[in-house]
Amino acid sequence: MRHRFSFRRHVEFDIVAMTSQDCQDAARLHATSFSRPWSDGEINTLMSKSTVFGFIARPEGGKAAGTATGFVLAQLAAGEAEILTIAVAPEGRRHGMGWRLMGAVIRHLRAEGADALFLEVDETNAAAISLYRKLDFREVARRDHYYGDRNAAKSAALVMRLDLG
Ligand SMILES: CC(C)(COP(=O)(O)OP(=O)(O)OC[C@H]1O[C@@H](n2cnc3c(N)ncnc32)[C@H](O)[C@@H]1OP(=O)(O)O)[C@@H](O)C(=O)NCCC(=O)NCCS
Repeated sequence: MRHRFSFRRHVEFDIVAMTSQDCQDAARLHATSFSRPWSDGEINTLMSKSTVFGFIARPEGGKAAGTATGFVLAQLAAGEAEILTIAVAPEGRRHGMGWRLMGAVIRHLRAEGADALFLEVDETNAAAISLYRKLDFREVARRDHYYGDRNAAKSAALVMRLDLG
C-alpha cells in the first residue's frame, strides 16, 4: 500500500507498508519519542509475527536508511486490532504524518474486515489523545497508576476504541 502526500512545502512523502528492512529506522524513531526505546531486534521480533503489520513514512524515493520520519505498528487477530506503537520524529510533527499513518492502518483494517481498533494512551499525552479523538476513537476504559517509574507519580492509561464496522 502506498500513499503520497506533501510535507512542508516542497517535500513529498510516501507511506509504505513496513518490512523487516525498516526495523532500524523504526527503532531510531521510537527512541526519539519514548523514554523506554524499543531496539531494532524487538521491532524485528514483532514484525516477524503474522498478525503484526505497519507503515512507515519516507521522503519520495527515500529508500536509504535514516530517511524515515514516522512509523506505526499494529496487530490484528480475530477481528480485533490494536495499535502497538506510533511515532513521528519531533521535527516532523504537526504536519499530518500521524494522521496519515493512522489512516493507512484504518484503511488496511477495513479492507481486512476488522471490527474494531483499540489502543492505550497515557492520559497526559495530549497530542496523541487529540489525534485519536479526531479519528473518532472513544475512551472505553481507564487503568489508573499505569505509566511512570517507581519514583514518579503514575498516570493512568486510557483505553480507546474505534469501531470499524
Ligand atoms: C502523537 C503523534 C504520533 C502525532 O503525530 P503528528 O504527525 O504530529 O500528528 P498530526 O500532525 O497528524 O496531527 C493530527 C491531529 O492530532 C492532534 N495533535 C497532534 N499533535 C498535537 C499537539 N502537540 N497538541 C494538540 N493536538 C495535537 C491535532 O488534532 C492534529 O490536527 P491539527 O494539526 O489539524 O490540529 C506525535 O506527537 C508523536 O510521535 N508523539 C510521540 C510518540 C507518542 O506519544 N505516540 C503515541 C503513543 S500512544
